Amino acid sequence: MTHRLPTVRTPAELRAAVRGWHAAGQRVALVPTMGALHAGHLALVTRGLELADVVVASIFVNPKQFGPGEDLERYPRDEAGDAVKLAGAGCSLLYAPDVAVMYPPGFASFVRVAGLPDLLCGRVRPGHFDSVATVVAKLLSAAQADHAVFGEKDWQQLAIIRRMAADLDIGTQIDGCGIVRDGDGLALSSRNAYLSADERVRALALPRTLDAVRTSILAGMPVAAALAAGERSIKAAGFARLDYLELVDGETLYSLGAAAPGARLMVAGIIGTTRLIDNIAV
Ligand code: PAF
Repeated sequence: MTHRLPTVRTPAELRAAVRGWHAAGQRVALVPTMGALHAGHLALVTRGLELADVVVASIFVNPKQFGPGEDLERYPRDEAGDAVKLAGAGCSLLYAPDVAVMYPPGFASFVRVAGLPDLLCGRVRPGHFDSVATVVAKLLSAAQADHAVFGEKDWQQLAIIRRMAADLDIGTQIDGCGIVRDGDGLALSSRNAYLSADERVRALALPRTLDAVRTSILAGMPVAAALAAGERSIKAAGFARLDYLELVDGETLYSLGAAAPGARLMVAGIIGTTRLIDNIAV
């Protein structure tokens, strides 16, 4: 039997629910999402339940974080189906505000983290991470949760949110959750739904290249040569555009010329019309 997931749609209702759990001595974790949930999102709920007593998920397709020509209109939406999945994963409450609730007339504030948003994905998605930081600041502020859990597939997003939460004294602990992959290695993403069968096969070049480049670097190949070989493999797989394949410091996101503690290998590219990202620790 499936349980109906209680749903609230305003910050006041969300805050009241969390206050109730806190008054009962329970710790609360927030899992912010844009819906179209897959096993990767449900792993965030599972992680939330390890960190806290109660998990609240949010679903809000944030229009401000989509650039002109990006996939806002076709972004998959299925709140009813998502609610069933969340309830099955042990989530206790869904926060699903409308755009008019999040951005009422007169809305004029935004949060900008300096530096980090200009690197990697930020070079081709100007303004994207400012809109992410803004909406996440709003969600964290509305929920007042003890923890908030984000997927490590969006590593740059996670680094920016950590910086923002620390800088603004947001009392919510930001936690990362490891990437969930399909059996063949492709990182789960709501955008994988856009891939044709052929693109889905060719997209495997991303995780396979990350693995190969990491192996080469750890075997002593100069980073520049390992990255150049990786770029050739991704292009040979038919990616229309490779935005970056870069070894970076996992916190500052600065490019690294050699493996170092905390290093992360990051990639983003477009196959067909779908932009995919992935990363691994080196
Ligand atoms: O990663 C996402 O799904 C979104 O960027 C987030 C964090 C929910 C903000 O809209």
